Amino acid sequence: MARIAVVAGDGIGPEVVAQARKVLDAVLPGVQATEYDLGAARWHRTGEVLPDSVLTELAGHDAILLGAVGDPTVPPGVLERGLLLKLRFAFDQYVNLRPSRLWPGVAGPLGNVKPGEVDLVVVREGTEGLYAGAGGSLHRDTPAEVATEESLNTRHGVERVIRDAFARADRRERRKVTLVHKTNVLTHAGSLWARAFAAVAAEHPDVTTEYQHVDAAAMFLVTQPQRYDVVVTDNLFGDILTDIAAAVTGGIGLAASGCINPEGAYPSMFEPVHGSAPDIAGQGVADPVAAVLSVALLLEQLGHADAAARVNAAVAAELAGRTPGATLRTAEVGDRLAAHSVA
Ligand code: NAD
Ligand code: IPM
Ligand code: MN
Repeated sequence: MARIAVVAGDGIGPEVVAQARKVLDAVLPGVQATEYDLGAARWHRTGEVLPDSVLTELAGHDAILLGAVGDPTVPPGVLERGLLLKLRFAFDQYVNLRPSRLWPGVAGPLGNVKPGEVDLVVVREGTEGLYAGAGGSLHRDTPAEVATEESLNTRHGVERVIRDAFARADRRERRKVTLVHKTNVLTHAGSLWARAFAAVAAEHPDVTTEYQHVDAAAMFLVTQPQRYDVVVTDNLFGDILTDIAAAVTGGIGLAASGCINPEGAYPSMFEPVHGSAPDIAGQGVADPVAAVLSVALLLEQLGHADAAARVNAAVAAELAGRTPGATLRTAEVGDRLAAHSVA
């Protein structure tokens, strides 16, 4: 039976993960879920972010389910870099998979888009780019202060994520891949991405390809999200574009993600795209759908396609029944989704 490590984390993390667990238990009876106490509370209590012993234990699981990390009482980056990015990097989760679709019944903000018309997936590079942590600062707190952040791009890292995007496009109806970068300005990394993209595209003559600069892509995601099928892009561009994609398909509360190590050498991690939402934490009003859809991605990754389909169907029913503007209760949504997901 699948062994899942659960890192609920901070803010609304535990609230939405509790619902995700209800659904997981309902669709996969007997699943072994082990909770790991990581995040702001542990850091305040012990000064620890992610001890090596815990990292080793996490490595022994089939997958990780994560809520959210980050808290206003902890300096920025301590948990985001020390916990979340550390896991993505240590477990070589180079495919950061972020699907967006406009579900029937969901009132998106765009008048010109009908449910079913938006069904895209962003394949965001997960282990390189500006997230690699290269750079530094000099003369801190003086008028001469300088800070640099360098973007790391390796042919190996870029090509493998592009390959994954094309493989996904091969399995989809529209078979289209859009490369998003900024080759007109970031000429070093942009050239590497463009050449790797062209090389992989040549191996997939049945896949339609296009290129867009990231600023234009941000615009088209808002004006014409229907045009996208698979989007492959660098780590930071993907971070930003997937919040936009979430916003145009009903909000960040519905956006799921998988941080995937496709080779299975390490566990993949599944988490909502959203953060710890300190502004609504503790109120029981966070939407758990993003966390629950992340469970569906987890189930697909572990080969439980039927269970994943049941979760997706439960979400579809839930969203179709929503009254626009009505306040939801996190636990009630979780109860309904779990009940609907049972075989
Ligand atoms: P956020 O995603 O936490 O919140 C942005 C806005 O979206 C807030 O108004 C919030 O209330 C709303 N929101 C988010 N999730 C929601 C849900 N499920 N239901 C309803 N509304 C929801 O982003 P932020 O405010 O920029 O960041 C807060 C903290 O979370 C920071 O510490 C940040 O570093 C961290 N963060 C963590 C992750 C992660 O763990 N993967 C992702 C993003 C941000
Ligand atoms: C996300 C978050 C993270 C990211 C942060 C919290 C490190 O914004 O998962 O989208 O930038 O990848
Ligand atoms: Mn983000």
